Amino acid sequence: PSDFSLSGRAAAKVVILGGGVAGLACAYELGKAGYDCTVLEAADRAGGRNRTVRGGDRLTELDGETQTAEFEEGTYFNAGPGRIAPWMVTLDYCRELGVPIEMFVNNNASAYVYTQGMTAPIRSRTARADLYGYVAELLAKATDAGALNQRLTKDDRERLSEFLRHFGDLGPDLGYNGSTRRGFETYPGVGDGIPIPAPSSLQDVLAAGTGRAITMDFGYEQATPMFQPVGGMDSIVTALVRAVGPDRIRTGTRVTGVKDLPDGVEVTHRGGAFRADYCIATLPPHLLARLPHNLGGPVTAALRTPVPIAAGKLGLEYGRRWWEIDDRIYGGITETDLDITHIWYPSHGYHSRSGLVVGYYNSEENAELYGRLSHGERRDRALTQGKKIHGEKYRSELRSSVSVAWQRQPYIEGGWAVWPSYTGGFTVLQHPAGRVYFAGDWLTRLVAWQAGALESARKVVTDLHSRVLQGT
Ligand code: PHE
Repeated sequence: PSDFSLSGRAAAKVVILGGGVAGLACAYELGKAGYDCTVLEAADRAGGRNRTVRGGDRLTELDGETQTAEFEEGTYFNAGPGRIAPWMVTLDYCRELGVPIEMFVNNNASAYVYTQGMTAPIRSRTARADLYGYVAELLAKATDAGALNQRLTKDDRERLSEFLRHFGDLGPDLGYNGSTRRGFETYPGVGDGIPIPAPSSLQDVLAAGTGRAITMDFGYEQATPMFQPVGGMDSIVTALVRAVGPDRIRTGTRVTGVKDLPDGVEVTHRGGAFRADYCIATLPPHLLARLPHNLGGPVTAALRTPVPIAAGKLGLEYGRRWWEIDDRIYGGITETDLDITHIWYPSHGYHSRSGLVVGYYNSEENAELYGRLSHGERRDRALTQGKKIHGEKYRSELRSSVSVAWQRQPYIEGGWAVWPSYTGGFTVLQHPAGRVYFAGDWLTRLVAWQAGALESARKVVTDLHSRVLQGT
């Protein structure tokens, strides 16, 4: 049983450009309805940005540098997507395809917040307690002093004050005087524990700049709990490839042109030409824009509109899970204002012998900066940054590493692509150009999520199928 299926069968021949998540999902859904699909994929593997790197894997960039992962057995690095929100259709595919999932720790009160200039990082729970506390104090005292009398009734003000006392852990005087919520230098046991020294003022807390970091999971896309497939994100790709049939996916087949004809589509590729009744183009827009085609000026203009964004990640493998043993961090993310932006700790394999930390996950200017460096330079730069948070072990205990700069990945050339506005070109490409359809996360409001690729695939196969059933 599956959540989505096209009703009524058809046998048309469809050529799908690109074997990423969108292309594979199109082939999977059309295949269920009887279509004869072929996926043309330029790279030597399917999956696109859904890529999990394991020991022995090679990663080649556009300038020719090749890294070979030296990870030990069992270590993996999700170089692309890493987390799935519970409302996303991605989880429905995991269920339908039998891909087991586990919790991804997106927010961890024990992880750190680090702002440049701090002598030591602050735990996320400490940053949150102080921010909530001082903001609650400010508002509670303002309320008490009558500043909100014009806006709120006496009952409302009492309810607000009651809430703020809990929200901020305020004292009877409505003051924030620190809180056990901040955590401890030595946690209570038989004894009281030793508290963390409190900041002196609201001004100190604001200057620490931790507000941005603790709001990271407020949005619906990032709210906990989130999930990941067990064993690596590419479990989704493996399952889709198996369901589509590996013989229907031609890797190493780079498309060189698309021609819409009255009675079909002709796709040329490095090894020849391929005829089909319909085509679904799922390459990134900036690559489709460079492909010779006869689909017309508005299509070309639309394909040129989304702006590719650089994004990068670095996987750091350690032989000791010091973040668990020394720092008591079990999964989650440290937020920084350094060029590494984030440090991710693994949400699986707790207490096992080794593990992999994501040493940076950045985008735009920071990702461009790292992307211009060699792998060794990226690693050294990221280690210098991470040492500010974790100390010398961050460098000395490193075993191996792999980095990806998505803007330098062949046949991808970007982390994701964003529309300056969801009008014009975006609308143009929601419709087929003759017999050629377009699909991908970039054709949804879920850019940079696999859910976008999957939602787009469902829409396009629905449109295509209703046309085929109508016989037009
Ligand atoms: N999906 C990616 C992530 O989880 C990129 C992204 C970040 C997309 C933030 C939207 C918002 O990091």
